[in-house]
Amino acid sequence: MFPIGKIVVVGSINMDFVYYVRNHPLPGETISSDKAELKSGGKGANQAVAAALAGGNVTLFGAVGNDPFGRDIVDGLGQYGVNTEKIVRKETTTGTAFITVNDAGENTIVIGEGANGRLSVEDLADLPGLLDPASVLLLQNEIPWSCAEYAIEAARKQGGKVYLNPAPAASVPKDIFPQIDVLVLNETEVEFFTGIRFDDDFSRVHQAADHLLQAGVKEVVVTLGDKGSFYMNRQGKVIYTSACRVNAVDTTAAGDTFIGTFIVERQRLSPLKECLLRAGAASAIAVSRAGAQESIPRADEVALFMKQLNIERQPED
Ligand code: RIB
Repeated sequence: MFPIGKIVVVGSINMDFVYYVRNHPLPGETISSDKAELKSGGKGANQAVAAALAGGNVTLFGAVGNDPFGRDIVDGLGQYGVNTEKIVRKETTTGTAFITVNDAGENTIVIGEGANGRLSVEDLADLPGLLDPASVLLLQNEIPWSCAEYAIEAARKQGGKVYLNPAPAASVPKDIFPQIDVLVLNETEVEFFTGIRFDDDFSRVHQAADHLLQAGVKEVVVTLGDKGSFYMNRQGKVIYTSACRVNAVDTTAAGDTFIGTFIVERQRLSPLKECLLRAGAASAIAVSRAGAQESIPRADEVALFMKQLNIERQPED
């Protein structure tokens, strides 16, 4: 095993209010849940946990409120192995997410940004010092864009790869794509950024990835849920992987688990197909369990799962 570079995540930290329901409520409808739980989440925090459990050296920059939720989540992140020294406390509430999960494990999410919306460029003062040519900067779309822009500029100066997961889908400055090394997104986000809808015609994913590469991104990964994943880079390399079949309990943090695992495997210089398969396997395990961070598997669980499925060895790219 050789030392791998730092992973610096700048992202959201939420307390998830999760309601397990038969069907999602319709407009005007009130429904009851016999299982409602509080679980630690937030895309930034979830991806940091996934990378740490995959074996990465992870520091998270983010903000929590001055409340018990913030303290509990930060404690938990430390136990997962995430460096929490750069998380700041704001005189407001910790970010929240209201999540319904139906019998098929599909979710709907409403975010209350709380402290995430107060993260400022000043809170990232120590960020440039952590970035170097071996590092990875990982961003999502749940913090003020000014912070993401500052972090990207710092990474461009200091070196290292920039990964963007533009989730939830929201406008980003058009000139940002040439600054991104690896864009990881799902079908909904692909449609938002390219206008290309798959409608079960997954041949369109190639066209969509091409569109994003033309916009300046160097590599594109599209997560396709139970259809697997798709990779394409500027040199025209294309890889499809299929998904591991599991009983879906809760899809929350499936994409986050994929991204954190994928980054660590890339740092280990594993063959690309293996990186995608391992990320997909980790994500499948997360889908088979309830919650966000608590559903994310450790590297040894992923290895065992892949061995059981006989997919642990992949040929070189
Ligand atoms: O990606 C899943 C996450 O999205 C949840 O944990 C929720 O907090 C929202 O940020």
